[in-house]
Amino acid sequence: MRRTPGATAPLVIAHRGASGRAPENTLAAYALAVEQRADMIEIDLHRTRDAAIVVIHDADLRGLGGRGEIADATLEEVRALDAGSGQRVPTLDEVLDRFGEQIAFNLELKSGSRGAYAGLERAAVEAVERRGLLARTLFSSFEDDILERLRDCAPAARIGVLVSRRAPDRWLARARAVAAEAVHLASSLLDAARVERAHAADLSVFVYTVDALAAMRRLIALGVDGLFTNFPDRMRALLDGTERGSPARRRGERRDEA
Ligand code: G3P
Ligand code: MG
Repeated sequence: MRRTPGATAPLVIAHRGASGRAPENTLAAYALAVEQRADMIEIDLHRTRDAAIVVIHDADLRGLGGRGEIADATLEEVRALDAGSGQRVPTLDEVLDRFGEQIAFNLELKSGSRGAYAGLERAAVEAVERRGLLARTLFSSFEDDILERLRDCAPAARIGVLVSRRAPDRWLARARAVAAEAVHLASSLLDAARVERAHAADLSVFVYTVDALAAMRRLIALGVDGLFTNFPDRMRALLDGTERGSPARRRGERRDEA
């Protein structure tokens, strides 16, 4: 299910779930993203000392009031922490079991401060394959060695190459090296020339992280194929023409007032 770059409506990709309105990377944020009609949910993967794949952004546990690195913690220790509003840090298995049939996922493979997690790529692919979800799952990483290992263990895996402001170059070569189908660019890197070059190379262009309506409009006008946003409801309303201040919404409001 490779997309034809630039050919269809841009994907609404809920960044860490609907994380503008629920604690990021929690089941509540994913349920809300589904409810808000996101097309895809982006989640961040790490691996515990006892080899569980957990969904959380940072490699260390300070942000959740814990101590040390996920790589040194057991699943039980991670699960004891509060991910926000009493939610627990989800495992990848739990997320896929609960939402895998309802929505596509972008699995971003992270690393710890001492380097990559041994076996994370293969374990993530296996979790996805076990559920028959490989064709609808997009894997991504900022790190080329992770993507190369992923490609080695899963020739059919769909890959997006993450491009940061700190390392903005060579994105086309990086994408080619792992037979990626998409580039995930930081929004500040976006311009018409990059979109054109990516599309000419048959790569979809997904942009992170875009929350302001004006920026959404500008990027969609440039022909991008999807936006990572913490507010999928906002982007969906923009695509539907029902966001606050839109002509369609104003017409609707006038009808409501009549
Ligand atoms: O995958 C897009 C975006 O999530 C990458 O940055 O730091 O939010 O994981 P970060
Ligand atoms: Mg991420």
